[in-house]
Amino acid sequence: MRSIAIDGPAGAGKSTIAKKVAQRLGFIYVDTGAMYRSMALYLIRNGIGSGEEEKIARACKQIHISIEYQGGEQQILLNGENVNAYIRTEEVSRMTSDVSRYAAVREQLVSLQRKLAEEKDVIMDGRDIGTCVLPGADAKIYLTASSGERARRRYQEQQQRGIPCSLEEIEKDIIARDEQDMNREVSPLRQAEDAVLVDTSYMGIDEVVEEILRIYQEKTA
Ligand code: DC
Repeated sequence: MRSIAIDGPAGAGKSTIAKKVAQRLGFIYVDTGAMYRSMALYLIRNGIGSGEEEKIARACKQIHISIEYQGGEQQILLNGENVNAYIRTEEVSRMTSDVSRYAAVREQLVSLQRKLAEEKDVIMDGRDIGTCVLPGADAKIYLTASSGERARRRYQEQQQRGIPCSLEEIEKDIIARDEQDMNREVSPLRQAEDAVLVDTSYMGIDEVVEEILRIYQEKTA
């Protein structure tokens, strides 16, 4: 099976780009952040705090995450319920960053992700795909952009959805989450040694897609 790993901080454009590359190559796009988000949603719904590691480890045993595709879009199922509509709130984003540092949470999801990559050609995005989940990926990309640019993109997205927000707050939040994701003990966000750095601050979407296709072709030639 073929695989492309895309890692990078929040708002770098990973999912937008990965979806397009998947379409071009006929691969499946796997959004691993959605899996961590669903775990966080379960914990919030069950009143479990982000500091309660033991309870979280026990709760993991009650959580079954799976994915399906509808019209090419990944749908995430939490114990059989489609939770796509509930996992993108700021509350869930914060909880996800808090609890994705726990080994119990990561082990369960990493094994699911590896299983998916064994069965299908995948382009998978997240924080530890190149460094931990798929160390043998055919191509590894580290996608990033300045925090100001990432905040501006998130701000525009929220505006389009009609959600009131402040650019300053979004940038502060993005920086805090990056800090936490890069400094946790288990599988922190970092560029794999063999990953290619793509800074999208001054690049358009199509340009980034072409660059990734080029890198993939070069690596698999
Ligand atoms: O990509 P995203 O913004 O949906 O990710 C949400 C959170 O999940 C983010 O704080 C980092 C965490 N995450 C992770 O630790 N490992 C992954 N492979 C994917 C996401």
